[in-house]
Amino acid sequence: FSLKNYNTFGIDAKAKTFVEVSNEEELQEVLKQVYASELFILGGGSNCLLTKDVDATVLHINLKGKQVVNETEEEVFLKVNAGENWHEFVLFCIENNYGGVENLSLIPGNVGTSPIQNIGAYGVELKDVFAECEAIHVQTLEKRTFTKEDCQFGYRNSIFKNEVKGQYIITSVTFQLTKKDHQLKTGYGAILNELEAKGIKIPTIKDISDVVIAIREQKLPNPKEIGNSGSFFKNPIISASAFSALKEKFPEVPSYQISNEEVKVPAGWLIDQAGFKGYRDGDAGVHKNQALVLVNYGDASGEEIFALAKHIQQTIQEKFGIELEMEVNIIQ
Ligand code: EPU
Repeated sequence: FSLKNYNTFGIDAKAKTFVEVSNEEELQEVLKQVYASELFILGGGSNCLLTKDVDATVLHINLKGKQVVNETEEEVFLKVNAGENWHEFVLFCIENNYGGVENLSLIPGNVGTSPIQNIGAYGVELKDVFAECEAIHVQTLEKRTFTKEDCQFGYRNSIFKNEVKGQYIITSVTFQLTKKDHQLKTGYGAILNELEAKGIKIPTIKDISDVVIAIREQKLPNPKEIGNSGSFFKNPIISASAFSALKEKFPEVPSYQISNEEVKVPAGWLIDQAGFKGYRDGDAGVHKNQALVLVNYGDASGEEIFALAKHIQQTIQEKFGIELEMEVNIIQ
């Protein structure tokens, strides 16, 4: 069974067996029948790179549906099942005037996988709107609710990438969203510029969503046209002293202060400076408008993309003395 249409990189890896579940009963059934060690869980397939065929049963989580579970004048708690497409969920919120996720427009993937790496963009992270999520343990089948604290969210990180990695399948996420007095986050430079260019002084959540969509469309390749997984690397966080040394050599380096001791440097800038923007080797390449995104121009294999990623890592280490960490899940 080809997984080409089930991963946004468009890698033509094969699965031994493929099962899709569209409700919790079906999910429980599969978990009873197949050993956890023989399962490979697949959500939207937007954050993985398949470097070889998958010798396991690929389980595609396709649970659909959304439900308001609690609501006041000011806010709403919306429970969304794991298989809902992220961007369609964002558009649903905009249509219903639910505020909080507008900055996260057009992020590929599904709702169920959004907590795993605490997706984020333009000054907002999933954790800012996250209330709780439900998950099923792959071995005991026990259902557990994870609160925000339980999830231990960090920059592109959570408990699901650490302590309980591979142990749970998230079945739904409950979001806490505003119904009025939306807390708009317009501080990100590119958003401000776009709003100004459009002459919008008092933006609505729809304006922000539209602007984010426009920015993303300019910079990031559409996975339906060119295979990719968004940012391939995390933005590295380095010590303040390492940053001073870097700034001395490269005075124009952009940065975000994290604390007195730590500074975040955009990996895209480093990769761009190293000359990789628009680089192409066969069908594996670096996007022409955003060096942080690796792309599959058609028939690249996962191994070819992975080799390019390692080559970039090594070059950045040599040129800047900075270690880039891959953000995408490498399946090998
Ligand atoms: N830059 C370059 N060249 C490039 C790319 C970036 O010089 O090729 C410079 C930009 O000029 C800017 C800085 O690097 O000064 C930051 O670039 P940008 O605003 O595009 O954001 P980013 O740090 O590269 C992060 C997230 C994105 C998210 C944007 C917007 C990570 C790993 N990536 O990218 O997330 O959309 O900020 O908030 O944190 C994703 O995770 O898949 C993703 C796309």
